Amino acid sequence: MRRPILAANWKMQMGVAEAIAYADRFLGLIAEPTAVDVILAPPATALDALGQRLAQSPVALAAQNVHPAAGGAFTGELSAGMLSEVGCRYAIVGHSERRTLLGETSEFVGAKARALLEAGITPIVCCGETDDERESGRTFDVISEQLEISLGEIPADRGADLVVAYEPIWAIGTGKTATPETAQEVHAMIRERLRDRFGDAAAEIRIQYGGSVKPDNVAALMSQTDIDGALVGGASLDPESFAEIVRLSVIPTGDPQ
Ligand code: 13P
Repeated sequence: MRRPILAANWKMQMGVAEAIAYADRFLGLIAEPTAVDVILAPPATALDALGQRLAQSPVALAAQNVHPAAGGAFTGELSAGMLSEVGCRYAIVGHSERRTLLGETSEFVGAKARALLEAGITPIVCCGETDDERESGRTFDVISEQLEISLGEIPADRGADLVVAYEPIWAIGTGKTATPETAQEVHAMIRERLRDRFGDAAAEIRIQYGGSVKPDNVAALMSQTDIDGALVGGASLDPESFAEIVRLSVIPTGDPQ
């Protein structure tokens, strides 16, 4: 049984004071201990303070990016060791905004994922197709190639230490969510590719869906076999809304007889 994993990706939003105020409110809203893994990914400036606020709480800290090198002359970048020092347990890599707006390649994403694992941080490796790619029937090919290269440097025995996020680009920030069936189709294909690469460990790898996830669609998405969580942008900026998403992501196992 894969434990659900819900992550808030705040992107370039929320200063330090806002992040702490959010955490104060959010921690009061979620049940403890939670039946799901819950993660907040603030901008880099808030990592340290938010990490201290979340210490001893059931909520984990994630970075939105990392550089693959251990250190050196890389102006503006942060290493996996630095993220670990401020308490990051996860880091998002290969988000489509970084791939399309900042020119990140799958090779670079792969090097980042490997560096994170070496530092003891779980990579959340993103993949997803554009509208054009979907319309021209290339969704599976595009995602297979992104995964093959982005996971190419992960040692074969570390598969279970990964999280993968499927984020169709046409659904990000658009209000257009993939239907649960459309998302499931891609998630099942992703799990097959993970099985090719990591064997039986693929059954343990959690695959999140991202793209306009909200309180009113999360339960239907989570009811799908291969959807194990969500990576939430806009709807995670409000603590009430994200707490509701977390609450609704737990599928009831049925009434006791
Ligand atoms: P939205 O939830 O705003 O569509 O963003 C999704 C996303 O990119 C999360 O990483």
